[in-house]
Amino acid sequence: MKTYLIIGGSSGISQAIAKRLSNAGETVLTASRSGSGPNHQHFDATQPGTLDLPDQLNALVYAPGSITLKPFHRLTAEEMLQEFQLNALAAAQVIQQALPALKRSSQASILLFSTVAVQTGMPFHASIAMAKGAIEGLTRSLAAELAPKIRVNAIAPSLTQTPLADPLLNSDSKREAAAQRHPLKSIGQADDLAELATFLLSENAKFITGQIIQADGGIGSLRTF
Ligand SMILES: NC(=O)c1ccc[n+]([C@@H]2O[C@H](COP(=O)([O-])OP(=O)(O)OC[C@H]3O[C@@H](n4cnc5c(N)ncnc54)[C@H](OP(=O)(O)O)[C@@H]3O)[C@@H](O)[C@H]2O)c1
Repeated sequence: MKTYLIIGGSSGISQAIAKRLSNAGETVLTASRSGSGPNHQHFDATQPGTLDLPDQLNALVYAPGSITLKPFHRLTAEEMLQEFQLNALAAAQVIQQALPALKRSSQASILLFSTVAVQTGMPFHASIAMAKGAIEGLTRSLAAELAPKIRVNAIAPSLTQTPLADPLLNSDSKREAAAQRHPLKSIGQADDLAELATFLLSENAKFITGQIIQADGGIGSLRTF
């Protein structure tokens, strides 16, 4: 049995990951601002504070994220800094805290989240693309620095039905329009991403590190005529 720490776990993709791992009999610790349970700790990644960590960790998932969509000229420095702090800086700080416990594992894995809007330019995404671009850089640098003992990968989703994306998907017409924009004619479901996440965290992915995996219904790389 392995021990996983998920920053998040109370909703969306990270909750689906936690459920899958728990159902597989793994020990899953979660940490976020809401949520409860014996394996859950209250933690706000944007505030100073230390995580309660086990002696040894097999894997760490950092799931908090945001979607600020705004015309570039209306973005304030404060909004951009907040988005950078939650999506990128806090991820790096959590990894720094968890690193000693991860290093005590013979093989460990870190999973981060980017967005399709980093590799593919999309209007109104400047702030989140900057913040998640930092995650992609962090993924590759850390993968190099922590090899061979710790693998580091990231998933870059397109629109996925979760509380975070609800404002963009909260009606049949919005969901249908979003689905039609994707070559695969669908939006993501939390479980689609959790399937990929659990694979990347598992030993089945032991030859994969430093990768940003696009899970985006084809929208980031395909054109259908
Ligand atoms: N959904 C999409 O369409 C989409 C698209 C592209 C990328 N992504 C990325 O995928 C990742 C997961 O997204 P999601 O849609 O599953 O988001 P979500 O439904 O908002 O879930 C985020 C999780 O992170 C936790 N969290 C948020 N802020 C936190 C904080 N300050 N401190 C500690 N925990 C915090 C939340 O728990 P609490 O509220 O309890 O703190 C929740 O469990 C994010 O990084 C997001 O940027 C999502």
